[in-house]
Amino acid sequence: MDKRNQTSVYEFLLLGLSEHPEQQPFLFGLFLAMYLVTIMGNLFIILAIGFDVHLHTPMYFFLANLSVSDIGFISTTVPKMLDNIGSGSKLISYGECLAQLYFFGLFADLDNFLLAVMALDRYVAISYPLHYATRMNSQRCILLVAGSWVVTTFHALLHTLLVTRLSFCGPSIIPHFFCDLYPFLSISCSSTHLNTLMIQTEGVIGINGALIFTIASYTCIITAVLRIPSANGKWKAFSTCGSHLTVVAIFYGTLTWVYFRPLSSYSVAQARIVTVMYTVVTPMLNPFIYSLRNGDVKVTFSQWVSKL
Ligand SMILES: *[C@@H]1O[C@H](CO)[C@@H](O)[C@H](O)[C@H]1NC(C)=O
Repeated sequence: MDKRNQTSVYEFLLLGLSEHPEQQPFLFGLFLAMYLVTIMGNLFIILAIGFDVHLHTPMYFFLANLSVSDIGFISTTVPKMLDNIGSGSKLISYGECLAQLYFFGLFADLDNFLLAVMALDRYVAISYPLHYATRMNSQRCILLVAGSWVVTTFHALLHTLLVTRLSFCGPSIIPHFFCDLYPFLSISCSSTHLNTLMIQTEGVIGINGALIFTIASYTCIITAVLRIPSANGKWKAFSTCGSHLTVVAIFYGTLTWVYFRPLSSYSVAQARIVTVMYTVVTPMLNPFIYSLRNGDVKVTFSQWVSKL
């Protein structure tokens, strides 16, 4: 089969979050505000950690990396969506679609791996407080972050390249607000068997692998915390993971709801709303969850404000 003869669609229509014209100004304002808050919140985290020597610890380096990933993550989807609402055009080119697929896969998976790395960091901090500095030395930290980048780049590249095999010849309407893998596959006129097979094997192993790693780390953390004799000590140890645990719960809760079900039972309308939760709301909340519950970041923030 010659796929060049079949590929006749070079542009797609993104239906967006809502098809009602009267809702567009509201959506534009809402998403612009959420985008700006996300960029500023995460930039604050990156700058605070970069400039404050008290925050030069592995946990904060990982958090700064998570903020970089979150900025990339939200910038993959929201600017294009705002552009489409603003210009009144729903068009997205094939190339832009592939770029969105690649960067979305990359940053979603990077968030996923960094959350696992952060869980490991908390485990070492709580279970081996005396050896924390040597076990989590800067070489290991760089290795963990670099390893996450390598694995996620491979993952995103694999699924994006598999999509380039497909032909698009039928209706070119994507009932979503960005080129997400499932909605994009559902409008292809080629067999998507290999794509779904890879999602359900490599994708599930990669994402669930990191999730299982996070769950295992937390099981060990809870066991270690329960062994601490004083109630005060228990609370103190566990409160250092509270923020991380909140972020993990929101991220995986929404992700599981969207992806871990068969393609046939995939409801695009429902998925759109849940997708907003983890593509926009999670990156926006991360800096707040970490800074509001965190004494060190609050101190840095109030020092900055007092200098103004
Ligand atoms: C990401 O993590 C590495 C390794 O810990 C660290 O050297 C680097 O500074 C971090 N990146 C940012 C933006 O903080």
